Amino acid sequence: MNLILIAPPAAGKGTQSEFICNHYNLNHLSTGDLLREVASKDDPKSLEIKELMNKGMLISDEIILDLIENKIKENEGFVFDGFPRTLNQAVSFDKLLEKLNKKIDKVIYLTVDKEVASQRIAGRYVCPSCGSVYNFKPDEEITPCKCGEALIKRKDDNVETFEKRYDVYMNETFPIIDFYREKGLISEVDSSKTPTEVFDDIKAVLD
Ligand code: AP5
Ligand code: MG
Repeated sequence: MNLILIAPPAAGKGTQSEFICNHYNLNHLSTGDLLREVASKDDPKSLEIKELMNKGMLISDEIILDLIENKIKENEGFVFDGFPRTLNQAVSFDKLLEKLNKKIDKVIYLTVDKEVASQRIAGRYVCPSCGSVYNFKPDEEITPCKCGEALIKRKDDNVETFEKRYDVYMNETFPIIDFYREKGLISEVDSSKTPTEVFDDIKAVLD
């Protein structure tokens, strides 16, 4: 099974990907995570990617499609988190899947209000080692990850960059929902519920 998760920033794509991958034994492919790995290097291309991400802007479709092609040749069964993100990526992805004799089974559109997403950004901490995602209340102590590593805040998790990421989402990514709706692949899930309730609704769509 191959799934795509489409949602605004901080709607819970990473959180639900972890549940889905564990339950259905799928591979998690987050272009955000892949790019953060590239951006941690020191060469000029990586530094350029890091700068764009810190401003909340998109990385070129060409770079993204290269990353995806290399990864999906390695394995079967994926949850695509944060990809495709532009109409051009969606169209090119269709061609790539056809070439590799693969297909998308379902596109889950996670909905959440901007205000709720913004609050989730404020409380989010991530593990730089295993990638686990957490949320802490403003007065809560930031405890280490379950793997023992100290948690960090993402560089793009601030109010200004969130605004930019949200605008980019509305302008570039939101239109691809209609692209997949016309193919009959979209299922909408309310992501403002608790993580387990959201996952129960996703399972109801997939089972
Ligand atoms: P990416 O890493 O994909 O960021 P994003 O789309 O902004 O999404 P986030 O990772 O911020 O949120 P999420 O939906 O995964 O939410 P999470 O589960 O963490 O992309 C980053 C950047 O990379 C982009 O801005 C761009 O520059 C670049 N990029 C990536 N892909 C690209 C592409 N295809 N093309 C071009 N450029 C690309 O949850 C958020 C918080 O909420 C957490 O603290 C979590 O614990 C909490 N939470 C989750 N669910 C719930 C819930 N149900 N109730 C309460 N709290 C919850
Ligand atoms: Mg994420």
